[in-house]
Amino acid sequence: MRRVQIPSGERHVLDSGSGPPIVLVHGFPLDHSMWNAQVKELAGPFRVIAPDLCGFGESPVQTGTVSMARHAQDLSDLLVALEVDQPITLCGLSMGGYIALEFWHHFRHQLAALILCDTRAAADTVEVLDRRFRMADIVLEHGTTAVSDAMIPQLFAPRTLEEHPLIVDQLRQVIARADPEGVAAALRGMAARRDMTGRLSEIEQPVLLIVGAEDAITPVEEMRSMAAALPAGRLSVIADAGHMAPMERPEEVNAAIVEFLESQQDR
Ligand code: MLT
Repeated sequence: MRRVQIPSGERHVLDSGSGPPIVLVHGFPLDHSMWNAQVKELAGPFRVIAPDLCGFGESPVQTGTVSMARHAQDLSDLLVALEVDQPITLCGLSMGGYIALEFWHHFRHQLAALILCDTRAAADTVEVLDRRFRMADIVLEHGTTAVSDAMIPQLFAPRTLEEHPLIVDQLRQVIARADPEGVAAALRGMAARRDMTGRLSEIEQPVLLIVGAEDAITPVEEMRSMAAALPAGRLSVIADAGHMAPMERPEEVNAAIVEFLESQQDR
């Protein structure tokens, strides 16, 4: 891991391997470690960059609201700081996917391809907005256990919850370590994000969409609609996985990613 200075502060980032760059952007309220299995597979033939986003892991917290645009700008600044001089494949899970779409909006010239995992293009419904603001207050008052208790049953497929307690526990510990201020700032940032549904048809880059067949947060049908709206979108549905497909079924997810990346190199 490296510590890198960008205009908005210091960022903790994994930078490993050489070759075409792929940037892995974690979901909420996690850190780069959710990609451990992908880093192991990809860092070698590819240069894998996996940051802790502002307010998560070991990257310092910013209070208030941290918008998706802020994260997208940070990623662009990080690429400059790491001297990445070729277009990247940007892979984001859930909140990481919101950030990836926002990155496309501002910095599409820096993008070779997108991988959108267990995410959505739509903005929050009124009910979700309300839940986010309430959760931000609860986290600031009671800590992040409230988030893991509410989220864990939603994050994993039933089979993962039953058969892979270590994976579930790893995630619980990451959430427990998260800073309540960072979590609240991200909740407010997600609440403020734009609706990208109508923009999907403008995304010219190839896009791989990955979703767990049992994702309870961003369901298969929603991602199927996204794939259909994209000029060059293809969907990979991962059996026996929920919202955390890359952690739950790493071999299947890695195979889908490698096949996609190799198909980009052949172009
Ligand atoms: C995530 O996994 O990043 C979150 O479920 C995203 C969200 O709350 O919308």
